[in-house]
Amino acid sequence: MKVNITILVENTTPMPGFQGEYGFAALVEVNEKRILFDTGSADALMKNATAGGIDLAEIDDLVISHGHFDHTGGVIPFLQTSRNKRVYAHAGIFIPRYAVLGEYKRVIGVPFPSQEIESNHAEFIITNEFTEIFPGVFVTGEIPRNTSYEDVGGPFYVAVGERMVPDVIYDDMSMVINHPEGLIIISGCAHAGIINTIKYAQLKTGQKRVKAFIGGTHLAGASEERMGRTITELQELDVEQIIACHCTGFEALVKLRNALGDKVIKGETAMKFAFSY
Ligand SMILES: [Fe+2]
Ligand SMILES: [Fe+2]
Repeated sequence: MKVNITILVENTTPMPGFQGEYGFAALVEVNEKRILFDTGSADALMKNATAGGIDLAEIDDLVISHGHFDHTGGVIPFLQTSRNKRVYAHAGIFIPRYAVLGEYKRVIGVPFPSQEIESNHAEFIITNEFTEIFPGVFVTGEIPRNTSYEDVGGPFYVAVGERMVPDVIYDDMSMVINHPEGLIIISGCAHAGIINTIKYAQLKTGQKRVKAFIGGTHLAGASEERMGRTITELQELDVEQIIACHCTGFEALVKLRNALGDKVIKGETAMKFAFSY
């Protein structure tokens, strides 16, 4: 199995000619299959694909990790470009969502109405549960929240009538590749928690080894307790490589690196990772 992962959108980039943008998107190539995982928040996906010589018209499938703007902002331009228009996502991605800090309320949901999926002739495939979308390639669907120390990672809310209620972001899902050398897990924000995500992928595939975790971890602002217990679990799970992106945050990244050494790197726009066997 040959797996290549190219980060097409991440907050920052070390590469001239590419654009950093708040959010995440990655091209995931598994043998001949080409899957786009998330789309960033605006126009960086299209620009960076061009800069990297990647033809988005030839993508086979789009996977959406969850209904936040920084993962779905490039969906419509992508659908207008791509020949294939299969979109895998949880049914709940279009729920109106907010980040609330005191008086300050910001709209953070999907920035287009659900009807635009149909008007762009896309096939919306609901994956609320763990689903194999291609031999050896899965999306998790809803991830059970079993750890006591992980939470969604921020002041996220949904509106129920006039009231704001905490958003559990139950639509958060990751992609899992059952590579012969261990699982490769690609996450958008990991609002379900990085440990919940890894353990669920292990449970559903029966594969204990974890070769790589790549993507957002939403550890930015995590408590001391959460960081400590997450690091202990990552050591016990013996995750071979963590490519931390997007909503990991500088502080959490430093703590992960100090504890786990060079297994941890910062993933940025235009970086490529190859896993072949
Ligand atoms: Fe995000
Ligand atoms: Fe998010």
